[in-house]
Amino acid sequence: MGKLGLGIAAACAVASCAVAAVMVGRRVRSRRRWWKVVTAVQELEAAAATPVGRLRQVVDAMAVEMHAGLASEGGSKLKMLLTFVDNLPDGSENGIYYALHVGGTNFRILKIQLGGQRSILGRDVERKPIPQSLMTSTSEEFFDFIALALKEFIERMGNNLQLSQVRGKDLGFTFSFPVKQTSVSSGTLIKWTKGFAIEDMVEKDVVECLQKALSRRGLDMNVAALVNDSVGTLAVGHFLDKDTVAAVVIGTGTNACYLERADAVIKCQGLLSTSGGMVINMEWGNFWSSHLPRTSYDTDLDVESQNPNDQGFEKMISGMYLGDIVRRVIHRLSIESDIFGPLSYKLSTRFVLSTPLMAAMHEDDSPDLREVAKILEETLDIRDVPLKARKIMVKVCDVVTRRAARLVAAGIVGILKKIGRDGTGGISSGRIKGYKSGKMRRTVVAVEGGLYTSYTVFREYLNEAVAEILGEEIAPYVILKTMEDGSGIGAAMLAASNSARSVDTVQVL
Ligand code: BGC
Repeated sequence: MGKLGLGIAAACAVASCAVAAVMVGRRVRSRRRWWKVVTAVQELEAAAATPVGRLRQVVDAMAVEMHAGLASEGGSKLKMLLTFVDNLPDGSENGIYYALHVGGTNFRILKIQLGGQRSILGRDVERKPIPQSLMTSTSEEFFDFIALALKEFIERMGNNLQLSQVRGKDLGFTFSFPVKQTSVSSGTLIKWTKGFAIEDMVEKDVVECLQKALSRRGLDMNVAALVNDSVGTLAVGHFLDKDTVAAVVIGTGTNACYLERADAVIKCQGLLSTSGGMVINMEWGNFWSSHLPRTSYDTDLDVESQNPNDQGFEKMISGMYLGDIVRRVIHRLSIESDIFGPLSYKLSTRFVLSTPLMAAMHEDDSPDLREVAKILEETLDIRDVPLKARKIMVKVCDVVTRRAARLVAAGIVGILKKIGRDGTGGISSGRIKGYKSGKMRRTVVAVEGGLYTSYTVFREYLNEAVAEILGEEIAPYVILKTMEDGSGIGAAMLAASNSARSVDTVQVL
């Protein structure tokens, strides 16, 4: 080999060394970025962890806050609102009733026929999305929209009857926001949640607003019951099963209510109650405790929300927020690595990833996670993602959902603890040694809301955590029962039990 040949060979060797070095460098950098992703996910998992010990701390905190909220007005972030519902439906109600349910992204109109003997003979339900613009409009526009929808519904359902024949019908009104009730059929809005912001309604009587809108539409109807959705769910739960003592809603927002002894409501001494009890609307979405496993993503979500420092529990749990927590995690992973390809601008759009889409990704059981790829592409504009990145996506959904479901479970056991149905001796003592399970009473909790009814993994995590916290001796006594459309049906039932006039006079069919 001549000098030239040697030179070429040396140059080739140098070039291939350089190429190898570049490739090795790239591989090292890519591995480093991958480890960053893995580390970020591990950090998320650690910050969101809910071992049973921590859940028990949340249980205790919930029970303690319930006491504080009942002791004095403003004594806790839990409002523990009076509902003036002192008798729950017992199954004997009968007649035809209408109900309206306003609360989340959809609003519902219902017509229910109750047949006594714990029977629901018929139900018609119509769902209508609430236009985004109405959620921030004026109270008059908002209630006119609702009254018109009700009028059209009655016209459709009333067969051949003229609207003028629909007289004095008792209406149940489920209004799923914090309301300070002044009676079973009146109350003022304390504040909006879940993205609603009709400013002129705050501190107004919501029934008065609805009643005026009904008159404007020529509807002669009487709002006989104003109820929170959790209270409606408890009412229908009790109608169907008398052992139902509490209800939980886990939908766009979250809340719980339960049956309390009237004398335990210390902030309202001398409360008149024919039964000695009263349903308390906890407004647990606003619960807060230092034991809650909060991550930096929760803090950012809160800061950027319409209601910072408010509804802290709700922001970790409910359908309005879970998808957005996941979006925030993926956004950060995308900034720190290239596993999701070039940074998609959609990742910085709040609420672009809804919770139903997140659930669909979480529950994707195809081997190549096709659904995940499809949603990433169609919703977040992230294309051609490798399988390992799709798996990361599923993992993040799992961490966020598992935490939410387990916290709801802790909240439920907190209520049971407050009313002495968790097998312990109340909030000041621990588990009673040698506790006889024979003393434990069958206890039913009614549950409503899409996260529980339609998101199987969420439901399984929740049920599993309730059993884990209670332990195998007590868990069999506690039953969670799904109530589909319970809140609306329950409002109709409460309208029935609160109705002053005989049911026959209000029947129009
Ligand atoms: C509201 C509650 C409601 C819950 C579930 C929360 O945002 O404050 O009143 O019960 O959502 O709809």
